[in-house]
Amino acid sequence: MSQHTRAKFQPSGRIQFGVFFQGVNSGTIWKAPESGSQTDFESFRRIAQTAERGLFAAFFLGEGLRLREHLGRPHALDVAGRPDAQTMLAALASVTSNIGLVATQNTTYNDPSDLAHRLASLDLLSGGRAAWNIVTTDNAWTGANFRRGGYLDHADRYVHAEAFVETAKGIWDGVYGTPRLPRSAKYRPVLFQAGDSPDGRDFAARQADVIFSAHPKFDDAVEFRADIVSRSLAAGRGANDVKIMPASEFILAGSEHEAREKKEWVRSLQIGPQQAIAYLEQFWGRELSAYDPDGPLPDIEPAVDETSETRGSGFHGAKARELTAQWRAEAAEKGLTIRKFVTSRTARVDATFTGSYSSVADTLAEYARVGAVDGFNISPWLIPTGLDDIVNHLVPELQERRVYPTEYAGNTLRENLGLATPVRSASLVPEPAR
Ligand SMILES: Cc1cc2nc3c(=O)[nH]c(=O)nc-3n(C[C@H](O)[C@H](O)[C@H](O)COP(=O)(O)O)c2cc1C
Repeated sequence: MSQHTRAKFQPSGRIQFGVFFQGVNSGTIWKAPESGSQTDFESFRRIAQTAERGLFAAFFLGEGLRLREHLGRPHALDVAGRPDAQTMLAALASVTSNIGLVATQNTTYNDPSDLAHRLASLDLLSGGRAAWNIVTTDNAWTGANFRRGGYLDHADRYVHAEAFVETAKGIWDGVYGTPRLPRSAKYRPVLFQAGDSPDGRDFAARQADVIFSAHPKFDDAVEFRADIVSRSLAAGRGANDVKIMPASEFILAGSEHEAREKKEWVRSLQIGPQQAIAYLEQFWGRELSAYDPDGPLPDIEPAVDETSETRGSGFHGAKARELTAQWRAEAAEKGLTIRKFVTSRTARVDATFTGSYSSVADTLAEYARVGAVDGFNISPWLIPTGLDDIVNHLVPELQERRVYPTEYAGNTLRENLGLATPVRSASLVPEPAR
C-alpha cells in the first residue's frame, strides 16, 4: 500500500463482537434465579461457546491482583473470586475452536520473560488465538501483594510498559537467543491495550493491534477514532493499523417498550440499596448506613480530605469536600435519590445500547458505515445466559444489514480481526512444530 493510502482512514463497513466476562463488579447480576457462578468453569464455557456460535472474535478476561477494599475491609459487596485469566483461557481453548482468547495482564507487577512465555504457550496451544490486553493497572494497593511492593507514578507506568512490551516482543522475536517455544500459527499473540490517558493512547498507537476503549457513544467514538488515527500516523503506522473495540452493554427486547422495562429491572438488580450506600461511602470515607437509599444524598461532610474508590483508583486524590458538594447539588437539582444518583454514575449508562433488536442493529450499522469503531466488547449483565438474545436476535439482524461476519474468516485471531501477521524482526525463531 502506498504512503498516501496508508495515511487515509478507510471504514471497513463491518463490526465485530468480543465478550468481556466481568464477574467481579456490580455490572453483573448475581442475584437473579438464572444467575450462575462466577468461578464455575461451566459459566465460562457456556458464555464462550455461545459467543462462538455468534461468531464473536474474542473472549476477554480482566485482571485484578487483589481483592477490592472498602473502609479498610474487603469489599463486602464485591463478588470474591476471579480465576487466573490465562489458566481459564487455556481450559477454554480446549472447548472452543475459533474464538480469540484475550488475557488482561498488567505490566506493572508482572515480569516480561515469564509473561511472554505464558502468552506464547497459550497462543501455541490454541492455534494462534491468544491475545494480551496490556494494562498498566490503576490499582495501587496491589503492590502490597508483591514482595518488591511499590507502585509507579502514572508517567513511569507507561515508560515501564513500553520497555516491558519491547522486551516481550524481543523474546518472541528471538532477539535474546533461541526462544523456549516455536512460533505459533500467526507468529505471536495479538496485542490489545486498555488505558485512556494521552500517554496510554500514544502507547497504544505505537504498540497495540486493538484498543479496548471506553468510548462507545457515537460522537465520542468518532472523536476517539480521529484521535487514534492521528496518533498512529504520528507513530509511523497506518491510519487503519489500530482497531478499536469499546466496552459496551446491550439491553435488548422485541420492542422498544419492553427493552426500556427490562433496563429498569436490570438497573434495580445491578445497584441495590446496599450497593448504593457502599458506593457513596467510598467518597465520603465514612459509614453512611443510617441514610435512606431512597432519600437525598447525605448532608454531612466527608471524613477524608481526599477520596479513594475501592480500587484505589479513579478519583483518588480528588478533593472529597468539593466532589461531594458538587454531587449533592447535582442530585438535588435533578431530584435524584441516593440510589438513582449512584445508578446514573455507575451503571455504564454511556456504554449501554437499549432498544429493539432491529433499532439497535440500525444504530450499530451506522457505526460500521462511518467506521466509528471496529467492534464492541460486550459485558453481559447476566451470566451465563447474557449473550443468548444477542446471538439469537441481534447477530442475524446485523448479518442481514451486511455489517457482521457470516462465518469465521479463519482459525486464528489475526485472521478473524483482519490483522496482518507481524513481520519477523529476527531470523532466530524456529518454525512451528508440524
Ligand atoms: C476499558 C478498560 C478496561 C480495563 N481493564 C483493566 C483490568 O482488567 N485490570 C486492570 O488492572 N486495569 C484495567 N484497566 C485500567 C488500566 O490498567 C489503566 O491503569 C487505567 O486505565 C489508567 O491508565 P490511563 O490513565 O492511561 O487510563 C482498564 C482500563 C480500561 C479503559
